[in-house]
Amino acid sequence: MKGNKNKVILEFIDFSFFYNKQKREKPTLNKISFKIYLNSITAIIGPSGCGKSTLLATINRLHEINYFSTDVLGEVKFHDQSIYGSKTNVVKLRKKIGLVFQKPAPFPMSIYENIAFAPKIHGEHNGKKLQKIVETSLKQVNLWEEVKDRLQTSALSLSGGQQQRLCLARCLANEPEIILMDEPTSSLDPISRNKVEELIFSLKKKYTIVLVTHSLNQASKLSDYVAFLSKGQLVEFGKTNHVFVQPKKKETLKYITERTE
Ligand SMILES: Nc1ncnc2c1ncn2[C@@H]1O[C@H](COP(=O)(O)OP(=O)(O)OP(=O)(O)O)[C@@H](O)[C@H]1O
Ligand SMILES: [Mg+2]
Repeated sequence: MKGNKNKVILEFIDFSFFYNKQKREKPTLNKISFKIYLNSITAIIGPSGCGKSTLLATINRLHEINYFSTDVLGEVKFHDQSIYGSKTNVVKLRKKIGLVFQKPAPFPMSIYENIAFAPKIHGEHNGKKLQKIVETSLKQVNLWEEVKDRLQTSALSLSGGQQQRLCLARCLANEPEIILMDEPTSSLDPISRNKVEELIFSLKKKYTIVLVTHSLNQASKLSDYVAFLSKGQLVEFGKTNHVFVQPKKKETLKYITERTE
């Protein structure tokens, strides 16, 4: 989007994360600093266990739901607000920053209810407005035509690719600013994967996307920026064509040349 090109929406500043407060000497993320730009796609790449999913979870504080002894140092700023500051309303934060998981995980309810669920929780009970939200969200993920005649059937009856688009639509119904995606296409067949990839690319007009992927092909095709993590550290961050064509660090070069899809 013109004019938004260099606008920062999220910033990691010397950010460290610990799963276990007691073991502060072992950070899972270690002094990470980089910026996420508005209306861009940033790919997070790196070997298994390097901290990609952890990094995503720290952006909307999702880890706090399951783990109670975590700790952070440094800052993550969303606009100018510190995500870990005492003023942050975590429910609102998670509405503004949505997460889509690797395996499509629709709620075991109808297609309609999957989308209407969050708006209802946030106080929307007008049937017409809910219908509109459902329709708009499904259109945004190119699923409307496929499901408009069976909105009341179970979401679990959809194919894997359709389920993943439904999960994206559910996320969009919250009107997020940032969408976090953790390997969103890795469980899909090639045709569904292509559809979801095209969709991700089109969504950056309206949203900012942080995409964890094991596929360097996907990262180079879709992303504007790449962050390469290794063992919890940010080895390199930069524009996608710079990182893939002329990486600054030997470790990045080794990873991208030795890794096959
Ligand atoms: N709940 C937890 N408690 C302690 N350590 C954890 C926990 N969850 C993950 N870890 C560790 O944190 C590190 C980073 O894990 P993470 O899941 O973020 O890696 P990843 O880059 O997403 O890997 P993958 O590509 O396999 O999904 C790993 O060493 C992992 O074992
Ligand atoms: Mg992961």
